[in-house]
Amino acid sequence: MRALVLIGGFGTRLRPVTYDVPKQLIPIAGKPMLYHVLDLLPKEVDSAVFATGYKADVIEAYVRDHPLPRLPITTVHEAEPLGTGGGLRNAGDGIGDPFVLLNSDVIADVDVTALLAAHRAKHAFGTMVLHEVDDTRPYGVAALDADDRIGAFVEKPEPADAPSHWINAGVAVWSEAVLAEIPPGRPVSFEREVVPGLLPRGVFGFRSTGFWEDAGTPERLLRAQSLLFDAGRGGPGTLPAGATGQGPVALGSGVEARGAKFGPYVTLGNGVVVEAGAHVANSVVMDGATIGPGATVTGSIVGPKARVAAGRTLAGVVVGGSADA
Ligand code: GDD
Ligand code: MG
Repeated sequence: MRALVLIGGFGTRLRPVTYDVPKQLIPIAGKPMLYHVLDLLPKEVDSAVFATGYKADVIEAYVRDHPLPRLPITTVHEAEPLGTGGGLRNAGDGIGDPFVLLNSDVIADVDVTALLAAHRAKHAFGTMVLHEVDDTRPYGVAALDADDRIGAFVEKPEPADAPSHWINAGVAVWSEAVLAEIPPGRPVSFEREVVPGLLPRGVFGFRSTGFWEDAGTPERLLRAQSLLFDAGRGGPGTLPAGATGQGPVALGSGVEARGAKFGPYVTLGNGVVVEAGAHVANSVVMDGATIGPGATVTGSIVGPKARVAAGRTLAGVVVGGSADA
């Protein structure tokens, strides 16, 4: 069985860091969010197709340098963004029946083996993982019938129009026949234009109660990082040599942080320097960035090779790659 992963989109809500790094490669709890997404796939899924667009070359190079032996990956590039439906159609040739469809920015604890079993047991056309949230506005919302059949699906409704609190978690199993239902050759939103029309063919919800977060905004990305650490999916999480404070801290290679204070919930990329007296908590500091002496960085994402000045306080800030802050 194969998985198709949607990796287009510009990551606008994570600018300016996404001018340099596609959001899927932003490290959280020690590795790119995309690799946490791929961790969900059980052994039964033995290859993946990436539908790439923005910064496809950067993603292809990273995947080439960091292969997953268990999961060979092919990439299909969109010259122009085709949306979630167009991207699926464009990359879906020969995907197999059924296949797993993944958004690339969803950090979750979902049992995909159980999802596949439910899909088969119900002879479903599609089975979408659903997660319950209070504020449904940023998501696709499903109305469920008694047997968990999806009776209605509305993408990003106004609160008054939301049919429930169960949202599309961005993990699903679909019959290959879904591809023929997507208009070819133009941008298509799968959720807005295609899913509602598929419901009569038997689309079911699979309610998931584990943790879930869409890491597409700075706040949610950092929350996703804390969820991964709390679930033990953030690596060993030890403090850098000579540092004080509290883990978990996911450490890249060659980190220098003597005399700095940490924690909790920090990722430090390769070659990061955190000078003495600096304090970093609930943040991501990417490869080659420098945090000056006495600076305080909380709730922030610091792009690759960025420099945070001595004594600066950053709270809830996204610093672009190579920028001075
Ligand atoms: N190939 C390709 N082409 N992929 C795309 C494109 C495109 O033009 N646009 C977006 N994507 C990818 C993104 O990289 C992401 O992995 C996924 O498709 C969803 O796009 P987002 O931009 O993150 O959408 P969203 O978060 O607003 O909403 C989606 O995810 C929610 C859950 O996080 C929808 O699927 C909602 O229904 C869902 O609730
Ligand atoms: Mg998203």
